[in-house]
Amino acid sequence: MKSYNIAVIGGDGTGPEVVREAVKVLDAAATKYNLKLNYTPYDIGGERYLKTGEILPDSVITELRKFPAILLGAIGHPGVKPGILEKGILLRTRFELEQYINLRPVKLYDERFCPLKDKKPEHIDFVVVRENNEGLYTGSGGFVFKGTPNEIAVQESINTRRGVERCLRYAFEYTRKRNRAKKLTLSGKTNVLTFAFDLWFRAFEETGAKDYPDITRDYAHVDATTMWFVKNPEWFDVIVTDNMFGDIITDLGAMIQGGMGIAAGGNINPQGTSMFEPIGGSAPKYTGKNVINPLAAICAGQMMLDFLGETAAAAAIEAAVIKVVREKLKDLAAGKMGYSTTQVGDLVATLV
Ligand code: IPM
Ligand code: MN
Repeated sequence: MKSYNIAVIGGDGTGPEVVREAVKVLDAAATKYNLKLNYTPYDIGGERYLKTGEILPDSVITELRKFPAILLGAIGHPGVKPGILEKGILLRTRFELEQYINLRPVKLYDERFCPLKDKKPEHIDFVVVRENNEGLYTGSGGFVFKGTPNEIAVQESINTRRGVERCLRYAFEYTRKRNRAKKLTLSGKTNVLTFAFDLWFRAFEETGAKDYPDITRDYAHVDATTMWFVKNPEWFDVIVTDNMFGDIITDLGAMIQGGMGIAAGGNINPQGTSMFEPIGGSAPKYTGKNVINPLAAICAGQMMLDFLGETAAAAAIEAAVIKVVREKLKDLAAGKMGYSTTQVGDLVATLV
């Protein structure tokens, strides 16, 4: 029997509630597919910070390195100033564990939940590969004359050839393995960001021409990309982009696939510890009410099994999610599903 050690960080707000349902579904899949999943919970998040002042102890980072995967609920607490937990927990983990890919599938399961007119599941099925360790997120920059009328704020976008190229290679490999249209679109801003995206574009062309001749290379400016997401999402197969643009376009992606209730992502280090999470936040106003949609966390669990190589178990979870979305739920939004958080978890678990 195959056995996997999984670190679990419920985190803040509704995080623990949705992670509980994800674990329920993972356990159902494990039973059926003869796997053993050993969970180690970590108490990390806003509550711990407010109680002890600890954000993410170094010892925890060291321990996390020993796991192949982390399942994360949500980070963000209304009692903590914005930026502290996001940078101290989420971004620190992404950076220190070198999770240099943020993989975000955008897939519509039921046209009832798409805000776009006449778009059906066959039109919305693509994946965004977001660079996850560089760009505007590194914290490079600073203030000059802070707090005076002459103050200057500089926030630099860091793009290393090594960091960009490993992201592009991952995206090319992923496109090949996905084996659909075999088209990779670079989303950038070569017309204005003539340093950063010049490097990206050259690396894209060189890497693609040399090692991935079977993959069609496509380019779109990021502003146009958002337009196509709404107008012709069926044009996309796999999209690769930098950290900031990836952050922005995947929120739009989440909306066209039915909202934050269903959108999941993976922070991937192909050689190390990867972390899977629902891409929505901690939803403080729904906390403890048993109304939040756990499907995004369940889909994060599915991505985790897929990443671990348990493709059949992952496919079974996805099939169960699709059935529940199409045949049971009235809506994907919190409080409107027609079922509670725990009931949705039960529905998926029994179908796996
Ligand atoms: C996301 C989030 C994070 C990001 C925040 C919470 C730091 O928006 O995962 O997309 O910007 O990456
Ligand atoms: Mn985001």
